[in-house]
Amino acid sequence: MRRIYLDHAATTPIDGRALAKMRPYFSEKYGNAGSLHYFGTEAKKAMENARAEIARAINAEPNEIIFTSGGTESDNLAIKGIAYANSKNGNHIITSVFEHHAVLHTCKFLEKDGFKVTYLEVDSRGFINPKELESAITEKTILVSVMHANNEIGTIQPIGEIGKICRERGIYFHTDAVQTLGKIQIDVKKMNIDLLSASAHKFYGPKGVGFLYVRKGTNIHPLMHGGGQENGLRSGTENVAGIIGMAEALKISIKEMGKENARELKLRNKLIKGCLKIKDSWLNGSLKNRLAGNANLGFDFVEGESIVIMLDEKGIAASTGSACSTKSLEPSHVLRAIGLPHVKCHGSLRLTLGRDTTTKDIDYLLNVLPAIIARLREMSPLRKGIDISEFEGKIEHTHEGHAH
Ligand SMILES: Cc1ncc(COP(=O)(O)O)c(C=O)c1O
Repeated sequence: MRRIYLDHAATTPIDGRALAKMRPYFSEKYGNAGSLHYFGTEAKKAMENARAEIARAINAEPNEIIFTSGGTESDNLAIKGIAYANSKNGNHIITSVFEHHAVLHTCKFLEKDGFKVTYLEVDSRGFINPKELESAITEKTILVSVMHANNEIGTIQPIGEIGKICRERGIYFHTDAVQTLGKIQIDVKKMNIDLLSASAHKFYGPKGVGFLYVRKGTNIHPLMHGGGQENGLRSGTENVAGIIGMAEALKISIKEMGKENARELKLRNKLIKGCLKIKDSWLNGSLKNRLAGNANLGFDFVEGESIVIMLDEKGIAASTGSACSTKSLEPSHVLRAIGLPHVKCHGSLRLTLGRDTTTKDIDYLLNVLPAIIARLREMSPLRKGIDISEFEGKIEHTHEGHAH
């Protein structure tokens, strides 16, 4: 069966050019970047070139790039690292209700440790209001963490404005740019960003590698203690091949960004238009200021998971956009945040496009989806007028959900 991948927000295939650059660092160039001999210096040199390349891509200095294992680690390092290093100056953190769980769960953890966290609301289109952020600031605020674009609905936050507010008040500003790096031009200086999280596998790089940008002079503690690699901020032997692959993938993504965004936008808009022809459907989140490859649709009377399973049977890989597909029965915290009623959150479908997506793929999806929705509606207790609201909250949750 021909397989169509429409889940690029979860992960992307590695770019062949990045993979080719990585290969020698698994085999003949296997040195530890910390070793003094030939093998070590060879690896170190390649790693430092990659660091400089990445720094250039976001207008940072090479020594402001700290290599990590990916987005989750970068978010943890940024938030816990700032919180513990600056607790003498205050214990208040501001974030938003619809961050990735790597941020939200880290904040929840810090709350248990005595920190106070304000979770900013988002409006129905999927944006936080910088004015609300401004009024949430107290003299105890040490950190603001707001994501660049949301991973479920793709809405792009006004981080330049937020950065300015934070810089004027001397508060650290962290942004989770996992969904945007390689898709939107980022300038950490212009945007007044102090800390930025990124993950290679979202921009056609390898999995298990990412970085945290840490502005020079930032007071931050490490999470990992050991050999003192990465300026003492992240001990552990560096993933040299992964780092080299990440730098190459980022370089290519940025170079091809303009053309690729325009291409995806056209396909995405066609997809949304086609999906909205299905009765009782809607788009979650604003169409404006949204990542080019993101579509998140809602369908009344059906469960997102059932749509995903039936699409998979037709060879199409999608995601619910709610966390239900991944271990949890909780509706998506993102869709709840934009004010969708509990029952409507369950009928969501996230389709995220990428470099391999073609017009033919979109046509095929638009050809099979209406029948799938109709079939599911035929079977739906919701459609038959059974009120499931009485069951809400009675479902046992065994896991916390996570959306990628
Ligand atoms: C916005 C956002 N932050 C963080 C992460 C976590 O990144 P990683 O998979 O590299 O740990 C993801 C991906 O799942 C994401 O979409």
